[in-house]
Amino acid sequence: MQRTDLLKIAKTYGDPVYVYDSEKIISQFHRLTNAFKGVKKLQLNYAAKALSNITILRLMNSLGSGLDTVSIQEVRLGLLAGFKPSDIIYTPNGVSLEEIEEASALGVRINIDNLSILEQFGSKHPNVPVCIRINPHVMAGGNSNISVGHIDSKFGISIHQIPHLLRIVKLTNMNVNGIHMHTGSDILDIDVFLYASEILFETAKNFDNLEFIDFGSGFKVPYKDGDIETNVEELGSKLTQRFNAFCKEYGRELTLAFEPGKFLVSEAGFFLAKVNVVKQTTSTVFASVDSGFNHLIRPMLYGATHFIENISNPNGRERYYSVVGYICETDTFASNKRIKEISEGDILCFRNAGAYCFTMASNYNSRYRPAEVLWHEGKAILIRERETFEDLIKNQVDVKELFAPAPEKATAK
Ligand SMILES: Cc1ncc(COP(=O)(O)O)c(C=O)c1O
Repeated sequence: MQRTDLLKIAKTYGDPVYVYDSEKIISQFHRLTNAFKGVKKLQLNYAAKALSNITILRLMNSLGSGLDTVSIQEVRLGLLAGFKPSDIIYTPNGVSLEEIEEASALGVRINIDNLSILEQFGSKHPNVPVCIRINPHVMAGGNSNISVGHIDSKFGISIHQIPHLLRIVKLTNMNVNGIHMHTGSDILDIDVFLYASEILFETAKNFDNLEFIDFGSGFKVPYKDGDIETNVEELGSKLTQRFNAFCKEYGRELTLAFEPGKFLVSEAGFFLAKVNVVKQTTSTVFASVDSGFNHLIRPMLYGATHFIENISNPNGRERYYSVVGYICETDTFASNKRIKEISEGDILCFRNAGAYCFTMASNYNSRYRPAEVLWHEGKAILIRERETFEDLIKNQVDVKELFAPAPEKATAK
């Protein structure tokens, strides 16, 4: 996709707007599949939370991906997008037994991450196979918000609780068909994956009827040209060897599962916003865009870096800018970055806007959420309309009779 295509999309569909390149999603899917081609049974379950537009889910389904879901609503979206229930895994955290039962009734695979629900679910539904999420106590991930496999994390069942876990499984007579871990996102060091995998293999030996081992995700993607990333090819070759050896030891060909989000969609996404104001201050030059952390919260939420390019002036000279949003709080996308000279009206392009961007967008400051466009086979296809004022008030109940307007104040003569 060229800069000119992006500019044309901004012109046609307005700004701000999210754009996703299907070709990049497809090539990332094939890259990961290829890296593990030595595994007999491989299952990639796309993590819907990263980007859950139904057309993107349909694209994943067409590639042969399964779906990793964390809420009953994501399960429903997956089914609506055409996934078979058996191709959906439901990995919630801290949800009610009722929600898990609802998902189970829809026929999807269930992944349980705490002993309390495991005991309750197993007692009521001993015939429903479950996968168990283990917390391997490994510190991994790009920052503390996305490091989820360590000892202080709320996720998974501690490896130190395996004896208790086994007692529950035995007493309820439930069938454990999979074990799972997810240690974090943005993991660069493949030794971390391999180390945590050994813990999973050790844990797996406690269960006789496993069908799959799910290694979660966490692959780090590049955030700009030449940036570092997880070497999935090296990981693929090392883990494949170890996994195949484990299957021999276990006595059965298991499925190796991953649930990538960022790896599949992060780089495929571009966020386009227009510069409203260029404001020189005593400390910097602010470029204020027609968006904010209501649309792209990652920089403010956890200091994520999104490379920003001025696609309206690709050949201009570089100057330093702080790119900020219009929200009524500190709302900084980037501080003092070199960007091609910016004029009011220019379109800035934020890279890596495919994962955890639109799905985290909100209506804060009563702003509309942006449109989403898919770039597919050389054509721009609208896959979500920009919101309107009607969308903003759709679910509000305007109880007019409750509060009458204040009486007119007498004005002094
Ligand atoms: C359980 C689980 N699986 C998969 C993912 C996807 O991770 P990533 O986007 O790093 O691939 C996440 C992300 O939060 C997760 O919590």
